[in-house]
Amino acid sequence: MKNGYYGEWGGAFIPEVLHETFAQLNAAFEDARRDPTFWEEYRALMANYSGRPTPLTYADKLSDELAGARIFIKREDLNHTGAHKANNVMGQGLLVKRMGKTRVIAETGAGQHGVACATMAAKFGFECTIYMGEEDVERQRPNVFWMEKLGATVVPVTDGARTLKDAINEAFRDWVTNMDTTHYVLGTVCGPHPFPALVAWFQSLIGIEARQQILEQFGRLPSRVYACVGGGSNAMGIFQGFLDDTEVELVGVEAGGLGVDSGRHAARLASHDASPGVAQGYKTMFLQDDDGQMLDTHSVAAGLDYIGVSPILTDLWQKGRVRFEAATDAEVMAALERTMQREGDHPGPGVGARLCAGVQGSAATQPRSGDHHQHVGPGR
Ligand SMILES: Cc1ncc(COP(=O)(O)O)c(C=O)c1O
Repeated sequence: MKNGYYGEWGGAFIPEVLHETFAQLNAAFEDARRDPTFWEEYRALMANYSGRPTPLTYADKLSDELAGARIFIKREDLNHTGAHKANNVMGQGLLVKRMGKTRVIAETGAGQHGVACATMAAKFGFECTIYMGEEDVERQRPNVFWMEKLGATVVPVTDGARTLKDAINEAFRDWVTNMDTTHYVLGTVCGPHPFPALVAWFQSLIGIEARQQILEQFGRLPSRVYACVGGGSNAMGIFQGFLDDTEVELVGVEAGGLGVDSGRHAARLASHDASPGVAQGYKTMFLQDDDGQMLDTHSVAAGLDYIGVSPILTDLWQKGRVRFEAATDAEVMAALERTMQREGDHPGPGVGARLCAGVQGSAATQPRSGDHHQHVGPGR
């Protein structure tokens, strides 16, 4: 990463009025990265408050049934609040404390990031407003209930398709007006620099743990690591543990909706419908028309129907390090049912991360000599 760019992707396309706020955030982030006590404080918080490390569970019946692949599932659903989103918000909460701000805002799609953010705000004593597309408010009512119980104000966004991208636009509008007191807790590895780097850093815990756990349980590295990709935070989290292990194939799975040829999906890198563009403060592959207007996306999964994708993943895709596939609504629903019935893996709100952040082991992968606990990737 150079100046917030990953190859040609990323950057920070922000309004003049936010320059100072971003300079402050960059300084706090760089300062935290250089301070080993910050990482230790973060790890301790995630261990003692959120229950990390999350387990790596061998899916024995699913593995038998699908004869060939031995499937392990990294259980991010067992984090406090039910998804990997907790890793990011708790880390950003510590940064907010360092910056001396008192209010946090966030966008949410599935509601998972909103619940995590409202939880963090309650724990740290921050005021909290969550922006959520009206369509997602309807789809994810239980999460709205919990955000409100945690003391957050949930604002339904009625613009555009009334989903995630519209909630992000609204959160930026709020930030521009209240930047002195407010930090925008962006929920994924997208947006202007330093957000992709910052969120990837906090999520790297997933990959650090997964690599160590697969070696302990399976005695070798996996042949493939799969993760679902909305913005890409759980994917970047687990992939960072294996980026330098070139024999491990990394596969990002996007929301294929009604099929990648149907025009009703949210597959950016696994379809031919996305093109390079700059929106929401960064450059990546967007689902947009020839005039640069963002397209309406579709997925049965709220939170996976986003128009853009992490600039870090776009770069890794372009370099051939991460392969992208799309799974349709029907395929995902069938996989969910099968996993529940074979593994007793109960779908809480964090089902997306649970089903998709899997690690597949195969006899073809040899253990590496000198394997050790390590941190790799852009995060640190
Ligand atoms: C449980 C869960 N998994 C995955 C995602 C996708 O986001 P990301 O790609 O940033 O992990 C979301 C988004 O809201 C989510 O709630």
